[in-house]
Amino acid sequence: MAQVQPTQHRRRPRYAGKNPRKFEHKYKEHAQDSETLAKVRAAGKTPAGLHVPILLPQIMQVLAPKPGERAVDCTLGSGGHAAALLEAGATLLGLDQDPLEIERTETRLREKAAPEALIVKRMNFAGLPRALAEVGWEDGADVILADLGCSSMQFDNPSRGFSFKHDGPLDMRMNPKRGVSARDMLQKLSASKLQSLLSENADEPRAEILAQALAGTDQVSTTAFAAAIRSALPFRLDEDEREATVRRVFQALRIAVNEEFTALDTFLNQLPDCLRPGGRVAILTFHSGEDRRVKHLLRDALRGGIFSETNDDVIRPSAEEIRSNPRASPAKLRWAVKA
Ligand SMILES: C[S@@+](CC[C@H](N)C(=O)[O-])C[C@H]1O[C@@H](n2cnc3c(N)ncnc32)[C@H](O)[C@@H]1O
Repeated sequence: MAQVQPTQHRRRPRYAGKNPRKFEHKYKEHAQDSETLAKVRAAGKTPAGLHVPILLPQIMQVLAPKPGERAVDCTLGSGGHAAALLEAGATLLGLDQDPLEIERTETRLREKAAPEALIVKRMNFAGLPRALAEVGWEDGADVILADLGCSSMQFDNPSRGFSFKHDGPLDMRMNPKRGVSARDMLQKLSASKLQSLLSENADEPRAEILAQALAGTDQVSTTAFAAAIRSALPFRLDEDEREATVRRVFQALRIAVNEEFTALDTFLNQLPDCLRPGGRVAILTFHSGEDRRVKHLLRDALRGGIFSETNDDVIRPSAEEIRSNPRASPAKLRWAVKA
């Protein structure tokens, strides 16, 4: 008879003081202890391991999913928007390229959804037509949502290397099983390539001096890279502008590592064919490079009669939403209806 092995006791990570500061120490937030989550939210922070869905009521209003309709969430994240689409009675196809978070999200969503109401696929949304064909929706969906960029789980986890606020390896891949890390990319980039990447991906005004200082360097960690960016900047810059520059350089590199604009352009070109007549799309963007692309596609498709309606003015989060979730601050929502 096979011997039952005793399960190994694992010690809870220890931290000094009353409140855990490090991501790995926030075990109550990771376990989603409701009292702890309420306290963290009341302090205007996002609990570690969770993502607060942005502009949720506004997105649900423009997408208006009806029971039995086909909905696609192209960026599942922690499933906040997806849960609302399922609650409205839609059948949901959820996509995300992140292999680390998608399983946890699927498990959470399955607790509340009928088995046939939810299909989850780990894939890039650039392959949306293939995903639709695989589930027998080749004639399109009724509702499509894309909430671009990274989730809080990705930003907050130091081992993913997205944020200069936590020390971790300079990685930045949403799918760590594919492509090259930010560290490897930076080592191989020429100064001219890095300069154009900083200008195009983040409108960086000091792209030239930054590229001269950083291209080809070996940056082992996120915090070491942030320090290298700060020290490459002119002395006279104030603290706020210095930090804003670090944020822009991280954004530019993350976009390159994940080929975000290539995926977005492919998705936008295919989008009209992926919607049924009367179908609705909502896209949340977080910086000008994304928003410009979405605005042009929706405007051109409206002029071409492919869409019957779209919003002229972007929808932005209220001051109250930004106070309770500062990550909502740069968000812009655009939507359209297929003719
Ligand atoms: C802002 S989060 C989405 C949050 C989600 N709406 C929620 O309520 O939790 C963006 C997610 O999109 C995923 N993502 C970004 N680009 C992608 C792409 N090209 N294909 C598939 N997933 C992508 C990221 O891995 C991340 O999980």
